[in-house]
Formats: sequence, C-alpha cells, structure tokens
Amino acid sequence: MNLVCLRGFALGLLAAGVSAAVGQSAAARISYNPESHVFRLSGGDAEYAFGVNSKGALQTVYWGGRLAEADSLPQPNPVDRAFEIDDTPQEFAGWGGGLLAESALKITFADGDRDLVLRYQSHTLRKDGVDVLLRDLSREVYVTLHYTIDADTGILARSATVENRTKATFTVEQASAAQWNLPASAEYQLRYLAGRWAGEDQLESRSVTPGSTVLESRRGTTGHEFAPWFALARNSAVTERDGEVWFGSLAWSGSWRITVEQDPMQQVRITGGYNPFDFAYPLKPGERLETPIFYGGVTQHGYGDMSRLESLYQRRHILPHGPNPKPRPVLYNSWEATEFRVSEANQMALAEKAAAVGVERFVMDDGWFSTRKNDRAGLGDWWVDKQKFPQGLKPLIEKVHDLGMDFGLWVEPEMVNENSEIYRQHPDWIIHFEGRPSSQARHQFVLNLALPAVQEHLFQVLDTLVTDNDIAFLKWDANRNWSEPGWPQAPVAEQKKLYVEYVRGYYALLRKLREKHPKLEIESCSGGGGRVDLGVMALTDEVWPSDNTDPFDRLLIQDGFSYAYTTQAMMAWVTDSPNWVNHRSTSLEYRFLSSMQGSLGLGADLTKWSAEDVATARHMITEYKNIRSTVQQGRLYRLVSPRSGSDFSSTEYVSGDGKQAVVFAFLHSQQMGYPAPQSLPEGLDPAAFYTIRMISGKLTKGTPARASGAFWMQAGLHFELNGDYSAAAAELSREP
Ligand code: DGJ
Repeated sequence: MNLVCLRGFALGLLAAGVSAAVGQSAAARISYNPESHVFRLSGGDAEYAFGVNSKGALQTVYWGGRLAEADSLPQPNPVDRAFEIDDTPQEFAGWGGGLLAESALKITFADGDRDLVLRYQSHTLRKDGVDVLLRDLSREVYVTLHYTIDADTGILARSATVENRTKATFTVEQASAAQWNLPASAEYQLRYLAGRWAGEDQLESRSVTPGSTVLESRRGTTGHEFAPWFALARNSAVTERDGEVWFGSLAWSGSWRITVEQDPMQQVRITGGYNPFDFAYPLKPGERLETPIFYGGVTQHGYGDMSRLESLYQRRHILPHGPNPKPRPVLYNSWEATEFRVSEANQMALAEKAAAVGVERFVMDDGWFSTRKNDRAGLGDWWVDKQKFPQGLKPLIEKVHDLGMDFGLWVEPEMVNENSEIYRQHPDWIIHFEGRPSSQARHQFVLNLALPAVQEHLFQVLDTLVTDNDIAFLKWDANRNWSEPGWPQAPVAEQKKLYVEYVRGYYALLRKLREKHPKLEIESCSGGGGRVDLGVMALTDEVWPSDNTDPFDRLLIQDGFSYAYTTQAMMAWVTDSPNWVNHRSTSLEYRFLSSMQGSLGLGADLTKWSAEDVATARHMITEYKNIRSTVQQGRLYRLVSPRSGSDFSSTEYVSGDGKQAVVFAFLHSQQMGYPAPQSLPEGLDPAAFYTIRMISGKLTKGTPARASGAFWMQAGLHFELNGDYSAAAAELSREP
C-alpha cells in the first residue's frame, strides 16, 4: 500500500512536467495542510513533501520537480502490520518497532531498553522552512527535524536536534542528519567521488541494486577516499543535459557515513550523518545533540544542471561572504619550488618574479618556523626560524607588499612532531589511548582539539601570528588522519564524543579566528584534498583539491570536483614540467589552461623560468583576470568529459549575465593525424551575436569572427589541436 503510494507520486505527478530552466525560479513556498497533515516545501524547480500518518509517523510523500499549488498530496498511509515500517518511507526512522532498514537514530537507555519509535508532536512553520518536533512513544526523547528550502535552487538543508528530557543519561549510538526517500525503482544509477592521496575526486558510478552502498570516513576527518556527496540518477539514460537527478552533500569534516540502500520492495533511501562506527554520544538530562546539515536537491535537467545548482547554492549560502563572494586572487605558493628550504632570500626572489607576471597573493608554504628543515621536527612550534628569517617575517612581508601583493602563510595547527617543544611540554595533548603506542604518520601526532587547553593555545598562537604580521591568508594544512582515537582526560563513557567534539573545536577555532580577523582568508588543505566538504567550506574561502599538480591528471580531478563543488573554491596551481608526480612533460600554455578552469595559482620555481616563460605567464594571467569571474562564478558546462574515453575534453563557462562565455579544449593524444573534434558550446542565446577571440591556441581556418549563438552552439568551435597534450581556449563576447 505504502509502496504504491510513493510510486503513484513518482509516476503520476511527474508526468505533469513541471520544470523550468535554471534561473527562472519562483519564490519558496511553505505550507501545511491540516486536513491531510502534509507539509510542502517548494523552491526553484523542486518540491519536497512529507506528512504525518494516522499513527503520528512522519513519511516522505514526494520529492521531485515542482508541482502546481492546486495539486493535492494525499496523507501517508498508516502502518498496520509489524515490520511494515520497513516498507514505509520514514522521514527519520528511530531504531525500534521492528525496523530492519537503516535507521536515522539509535539510542541505548540506561535500563537497557533500545526501542525508539518517533511520533509527531508539533511543528513551527518558518518563511523558508519548518521545524517538526517528534517524541518517542513513551519516553521523553525529543527530536526536532529542521528543514530549510532555498527559493532559487530548491536545495534543502536538513538536520536534527536530539534532546534528552528524561531523568537519566542515555547514549546516542547513531545520529543522522536526514534520510532521503526516493520513488521506488530498480533503475537508479549512483554516482559518487572516490580516491586517494594524489588521486582524489574520481567519479565512480554503479547501479543501485538490492542492499547498501556505504560511502564513509572513519578517519576523524573528511578523508581522501570518498567525498560526502552522492548523485542518484533516475536511470542510465540520464545525461549531462537531461533526466532527473537527486543529489546531496553532508556538511561535516569528521568521520561521516552516507548509506544508499535499496530495500526488498525496491525503495531507495539515503541516510547520512555522523559515522556510527565507534560512535557513542551520551546525553545527560537536559542535553542536546545537533547533527550536521545534509543538503539535498533534485533537477530534471541532468548532471550539468545539478552541478550548476550546487555551485550557485554554495556561493550564495555556504562560502563566507555570500551571496557574492569576491573572485579569488591569483596566488603564488612556494611549496613545489623550495619545499622546506625556505629562506628570506629565496622567498624574496620568488616574490619578485611572481609580482612581475601578475600574481596578487604570495604564500610561503611549510618550512618557515622553529627547527623545520624536513617533516621530522618542529611542527607545532609556531615561532619564526631565526636562521632562515633573522629579522622575523616582517622584511619579507614588506617586500611582498611593496611588490603590490598581499601575503599568505602555511600552517598546520592541529599537528605536532614528536620532536617539537610543544609535544615535549604537553605529550598528553595528543589524541591517544593511555599506555598504548601512538602511531605516527609523516612523523606527527594529532592534537586533541576537543581539549579546551588545546583550543586556547591554538587560538593564541594563530591570533598572535596574524596580529603581529600583516597576513591576509592562511593555508591551513592537516597532513594525517587519526589513529588510536582516545581521549583519556574525559570520563570513560564520554570518550567517544571525540568524533564530534574535535570537529566542533576545529570549527570553533576557525570561526573565532575569522571573527577576530574579518579580512583573513583561509584555504582548507589536508595533505591534498583530504578535507573538502560543505562544513569546512562554510569557514574557509577555498580548498586544495589534490597534491597532484600534473595538468592532465588535474583535468580528471577537477572534473570530479566540479560534480559536487563550486569552481570558485577550487585552487589550481601551474607548476613545473616534468611534473613531480608522474614525470609527464607538458607545455606552459597547457598547464595554464588546465589551471585556469578553477581559481588560478602558480607553484613553480619562477627563478628558473626563461624570458619566454615569463612572457607566456604574464599573457595567461592577464587573460585569466579577464575571465575569472565567469570561470569561478559562471555556469559550468562539461561539454566533453575527460572520463568519456575520448582523447579530447572540453569545458565551457558562461557568465551570470550571459555576456561572456569561455570554452577550453584539450587534446590528450593524437593518433593517425585525426583532427580534434569540435566543442559545442551551450547556454548561449541563439538569437544574439557573439564575437570570438582566442585566449590561447588557434581555431581552424574559416572560423567566422562573429556569429549567432545558434551558429556557435550548432556548428561548434573547431580548435586546431595537434600532438599530445595540446590545449586552446576562446572567449565569446555577446554583442550589445
Ligand atoms: C601537504 C600539502 O598538500 C602541500 O601542498 C604542502 O603544503 C605540504 N603539505 C607541506 O608540508
């Protein structure tokens, strides 16, 4: 019965066809029907509805394209049989009452009872959402489900607050932010991002079949292995341009889990939140546990539209300084040039070269402090190495300023080397189990940010650094995962709270630092892309996707990244050739064009560049400044993916006002002299006229200098690309 109910919505109502093009969105609408007990939230082209059945259980009624206001959504069905609860699309299932499917919340009470059955109590409608209060059948356990819908993108922000109003402490063993129910079907295709160090964000795809797919991190941080993100397409026919896709992103920078489950009735639900592995969060009477936020959206227009919605939403609502964060400055970073061998002289020399090609921010990476000559010592001792910088950082910073750039500095606040003053003074500050060996990774330990003393110390260190020096930017690194996750200072029953309290401590530190220094910008880096998620993106201005700076590998990493995250936040450096990761040689133009698809940075040893390299760099950076708003904040079209199996790939960015479009094209290798295929731009006005101008490379002979949007979109752009790793880019400007 319930199965039929959800299917009925999926097939019957969607056929009505409700979607409009992106950007033509209506305002958000929130309603509650007291007769059917159905809540409806609509925004953009999306609608989400759930209701209360006659037993007080909350069930999803609909999630898809926006419906007519006059459409009536029926009340969810009662659950009459035991175990039928597994067949119902519960909004937020407590583990109890015979539930076999994935639960959202699991609690063990002091008396051993572990049965939790949540029932509707009340709700509060807001302008942009609703809060719904649930309560257990018999115990004073309250759960508030929070829903907020974005008027433009229809993206929902969902989270839950668990509250103990009983008289005894109980232990939360699983706490999800939300469960998402999709119409029953055996056709879904799951896409997700998997990877490893130097190979992050590889797009994977699989059919959703009976059972569960678990995406997770057990590492204390977000991790390189999976991004906390999913996309579920209605079937395998969904493309970049067409078809229904549901997607979601969990905003949490600690251990997390997303489970995509197809039950025996072919119902699919996605559950995500704190990772229940090794998890226990005792709540005393009167205490609450807030979950992270799980964002979710839906589009009828394929994966391309999904990414554009996510990107828009992240710039408006996630990144600091939304709704219109400034485009990122062109940055230089010293890591690949000087590694730990930084000195006042070599950094000044690099700064001069960087300024000469148009760099706006100079960042000194690892190696500037204490006894840091390699990764074995000094981490955690945040005082300037007087041998390398006899008069402190001031002379270098002044030089950087005189050259017209602002100054940034690398830090790794959460970590310490065993060989450091701070560890010798406070060996008990690291995450560890008492009396057990603590594993090292990159010769370092993890400080326990759940400890107030650690938080205070780190704030004082960072605040002093930023106050005493004119620092505009911190690259905040974190080069290892946790091991032996003990917190011996806490009562035994509370020690597993570390998974939550550490991340809260980390967020609090970022927040406090930003509050005290509102102009300070921060990059989230974690041994490459180990900490990229919407939680950290709310507190940082950009992220470092990977230590792999090979421009061809980056095409794949950037392609994967773009499925889930905005290019505004995606830092991409041009480094030296051959690349250190795989010794591949590529031209400087190719390296620039690869990096110019995100937030451009330079990471090469500029002191070794020839006059010709310098001229190329100056030209490319000037070009980049002309297109960066469009690249970082425009609409991205993945015209030909580097994963497509073709030797060719191409991307396009169209500015918000439609006046500028930029098309990039890459030929990976050429065989038998076949010409590169054409790029077919999208998102232009077919009736408007556009002039074309090359940013780099050539178009084939006979390409007109101006033509209609229809011409460019249908006849395409034929770039003249030859040999291996060749690239080109062109700008299309709409005529007034
Ligand atoms: C790892 C980062 O990802 C690199 O960019 C660099 O900052 C090193 N750490 C420095 O130790």
